Amino acid sequence: MNNNEKVILPTTIIIFGATGDLVRKKIIKSLLRLYALGCLPERFSLLGVSRRDYSDKIFRKFLWENALEGIKQDFSTSMINKFLEKISYFQGDFKDKGLYGKLQKTLREKDSPGICDNKLFYLAVPPVLYPGMLNNISGSGLAISCSPETGWTRILVEKPFGNDILTARNLDNMLGELFKEEQIFRIDHYLAKDTIQNILFFRFSNILFEPAWNNKYIKKVEIKLLEDIDIGSRGAFYDSLGALRDVGQNHMLQMLALIAMENPGSQSSEVIRKKRLKVLSSIIPAGGPDDISDMAIRGQYEGYRKTKDVKPDSDTETYFKIRAYLDNEKWSGVPFYLESGKALDEKNTEINIYFHNPEPCLCRHEHKEHLHRNILSIRISPHEGIFLRFWAKKPGLTSVLEPRDLEFDYRYENNHDTGEYDRVLLDCMKGDQTLFTSTEEVSKAWDYITPIVENWGHTKLHIYKKDSRGPDIKIKRGD
Ligand code: BG6
Repeated sequence: MNNNEKVILPTTIIIFGATGDLVRKKIIKSLLRLYALGCLPERFSLLGVSRRDYSDKIFRKFLWENALEGIKQDFSTSMINKFLEKISYFQGDFKDKGLYGKLQKTLREKDSPGICDNKLFYLAVPPVLYPGMLNNISGSGLAISCSPETGWTRILVEKPFGNDILTARNLDNMLGELFKEEQIFRIDHYLAKDTIQNILFFRFSNILFEPAWNNKYIKKVEIKLLEDIDIGSRGAFYDSLGALRDVGQNHMLQMLALIAMENPGSQSSEVIRKKRLKVLSSIIPAGGPDDISDMAIRGQYEGYRKTKDVKPDSDTETYFKIRAYLDNEKWSGVPFYLESGKALDEKNTEINIYFHNPEPCLCRHEHKEHLHRNILSIRISPHEGIFLRFWAKKPGLTSVLEPRDLEFDYRYENNHDTGEYDRVLLDCMKGDQTLFTSTEEVSKAWDYITPIVENWGHTKLHIYKKDSRGPDIKIKRGD
């Protein structure tokens, strides 16, 4: 049976946290788009689980009012109504063991006669609830398919997976006892972004760049995830994490892996994940506290401590910049700068690759310290595209060089923006794990991040103004 056939079988998605942010902002919109495109199985259903005392009818009304805002006009009312009819509601407290037994009974009753429906459990809840919920899912037998022949069970979990290497391992051990690795889908929504997927296609489908993709030609790489929003109402979640755990351990290290990985030679999920893992395994670990204060900066925006659910003396970082090196022949000596922050003066996620200056230079003597380097920028969001800075002779009677730019707009003539969660949900139903992180990748990423966050206390916390460029300070011995 191949992956595409599996999507045809009756499938139920059980979403824990059905009235939460993620469902309202992403999941329902994505499912509606997939439904309208005919990508969902004919007998598809969604069971939303949450504490609120809702009936099916009230839950559907809630989704109509809260989740479909902004996209309703793209679909006919009858299409939306048909989609909503596939949705039902189950009330319960995730901490109550009894909930899981009752759910199990309801799901068995919903199974199509003579066949076991596919079941996809989506934990759209705060990660602190994972251990208890996983235990209960296991104890109730929910994760066991009702027949070995038909109907898979899979689990989708959101990052962060743990808080450090130890908690991540515990969580993964627990997941591993309940599910086989091929049933576990760890979401890093960055991997599902079109522009991030394009990194591999761009790198390995154009022979032009790959020969220069190494330390002989590349001087440094910058990976930026800058945000103009502050933490909003996420105080309780964010204050125990900080920026490095929130986006550094996952999204940014995954971008680094895609930039530095070797050619997988095919679209095989297994090979691609292994190649990403190889990069993550080669990041040189930070040394002791002195090393960390040389290679990292952390900051916090003014007013952060006054946010609801944030400790008044919190030293959680809302900004970081770190310099990482890889221990392999190809990348040895090339600094990778990872920078991210909240409440900055711009929203911009991009990767800049700075090439070395050409030597010798055809520039005039007075420009000895020339800066005629090429820069390749992979723009992820909000601008999506690729930018290349190159140098050309200025037209006219002089022999002066000037910078010129080539720009490629990713959406131009193909305005087909689907959203990351469309892909996350579809690939999970198909059983394709390429765009999900493996347990080994998660573990290696924590291996790198844990010593840094454990030693954050030894680095100064720079307070920066909101809507600024972040702390006005450079990494020691940095470029
Ligand atoms: C999430 C983080 O994983 O990624 C958020 O928890 C962050 O803090 C978000 O804002 C950024 O994602 P995107 O897709 O908006 O760039």
